[in-house]
Amino acid sequence: MQTKMALTVILMLSLSSCGNSNPDQISNYTTGDSKDSLHVSDGIVKTVRGKELFEQRCIACHGLSGNYRNNNAADLQLSRIDSMSIATTIRNGRGAMPLFSKDALPDSDVAQLELYVKTLRKN
Ligand code: HEC
Repeated sequence: MQTKMALTVILMLSLSSCGNSNPDQISNYTTGDSKDSLHVSDGIVKTVRGKELFEQRCIACHGLSGNYRNNNAADLQLSRIDSMSIATTIRNGRGAMPLFSKDALPDSDVAQLELYVKTLRKN
C-alpha cells in the first residue's frame, strides 16, 4: 500500500515535469489510473503507460528510440503509418515481428502503444 502511494507520488512528480514553460499549450486528462495519464505538449501526446509497454515488449527489435532495426525491424522514427495500421501490425504481426494477442496486450494497451509509437517519429 505504501509502495503504491510512493509510486503514485513519483509518477505524479515525473508527469508534472513533462510539461514546459508555457502551460497554455498543455492539457492533460487522466482515466483514473495515474499511469494512463496523457499529456499533450506541442501537439504530441505523451503516454507513460505506452512508454512502459514499449520498453517491455518492443525495444528488443525497435530499440528505445525506435530506430534500432534489430531483426530488420521497421524504423519507427521514419514510420508514417496511421493508428489503425499500427494496431493491426501489433495484433497480426508482420514479417519478423511476432503478433501480440489480446491476452498479451489488451486493446487499452494497444491504444497506448499507438500513441507512444507516434511520439518516436522524427520530422
Ligand atoms: C522480434 C522483433 C520485433 C518486436 C519484438 C517488435 N517488432 Fe515491430 N517490427 C518488427 C519488424 C521486423 C518489422 C517490419 C516488418 C515488415 O514490414 O516486414 C516491424 C514493424 C513494426 C511496425 C510497422 C512500421 C511501419 O511503418 O510499417 C510497427 C508500428 C511496429 N513494428 C511496432 C511494434 C510495437 C509497438 C512492438 C511492441 C508491442 C513491436 N513492434 C515489437 C520487429 C519487431
